[in-house]
Amino acid sequence: MITDPPDLPDDGAARGNGPVPPVSTFAQRPTSPMSSAPRPIQVDLLRRNGPLWFAHHLLAVTAQAVAARNLARSRALEERYGLPGTNTVRVNRTVWQRWDWSNGGREWTPSTEWQTALVEEFVLAHPESAGTVLEVGPGGGRWTVPLAGRARDVVLVDIAPAVLEHCWRLLGSAVRAEYVLTDGRSLPGVPDRTVDFVFSFDCFVHVAPADFAAYAAEFARVVRDGGVLVLHHPDRRTGRGWRSALTTEHVRSALTAQGFAVLRVCDRWGSHGQFGVDGYRDAITVARKKPVGRTETDG
Ligand SMILES: C[S@@+](CC[C@H](N)C(=O)[O-])C[C@H]1O[C@@H](n2cnc3c(N)ncnc32)[C@H](O)[C@@H]1O
Repeated sequence: MITDPPDLPDDGAARGNGPVPPVSTFAQRPTSPMSSAPRPIQVDLLRRNGPLWFAHHLLAVTAQAVAARNLARSRALEERYGLPGTNTVRVNRTVWQRWDWSNGGREWTPSTEWQTALVEEFVLAHPESAGTVLEVGPGGGRWTVPLAGRARDVVLVDIAPAVLEHCWRLLGSAVRAEYVLTDGRSLPGVPDRTVDFVFSFDCFVHVAPADFAAYAAEFARVVRDGGVLVLHHPDRRTGRGWRSALTTEHVRSALTAQGFAVLRVCDRWGSHGQFGVDGYRDAITVARKKPVGRTETDG
């Protein structure tokens, strides 16, 4: 369990769980019936286990209950005042700058079929992905390679220099690629109306709503009319997988405010809906930039 940001992360990556947050979320609910047990049961536990066990167990259960309540309160404050909580740019940069990218991010790929289906459904299905493609948060490049294989050129945007260096080594000189180090909410140096397709996976799930809204304004600036966005993000808050407070509703309202029409929001795909991002209650939003002058929402 990680409690100290500088030592991040021990995380569940090997188990395919993604990183753990810098503040523990272990205390979802008490794990013992002790706290709410009727008095005779408590007396029975005391008699059967002895006072030392009883004291330790009571303290542990009480601490868990206090932690759960305070975690819920801190989350409520994040949502009420738009605070980033543990999903600040700085924490993200610290975590991802130190991440071991030698596995290419494949620790988060449940199966080859899942990845292939995602690329077919959300990349190859859009002709815009053959043009200039911008990827936010490429990490180890598990999406960058298929994107670059199709695109005319790619623009890779990340907060962590180590990620950009890794991708630069991965792609080599055969690919026309720009590498952009961002402050976590903007696309510095990317010219206006030059991008056909924006893709981002497993990045905005860790980004605070205000930072996402800033990116939405930047997408409106750099994307050509008719250009397409494919963005993976939390659907609603679960408190798991170091997800930020960003929700589908935040994404939808930020994009529509910036002149995008939301074409699709989904959490499953494939011929039988057999693939998904619903394990952490995430979603994928597909949106298209409306030509200037069109003002109606969604469509
Ligand atoms: C969990 S990794 C995912 C990497 C890759 N997209 C994948 O699916 O394997 C998150 C990536 O997003 C980047 N990132 C996090 N916050 C960001 C932000 N505000 N702006 C740009 N990149 C960010 C991290 O540096 C890292 O490359």
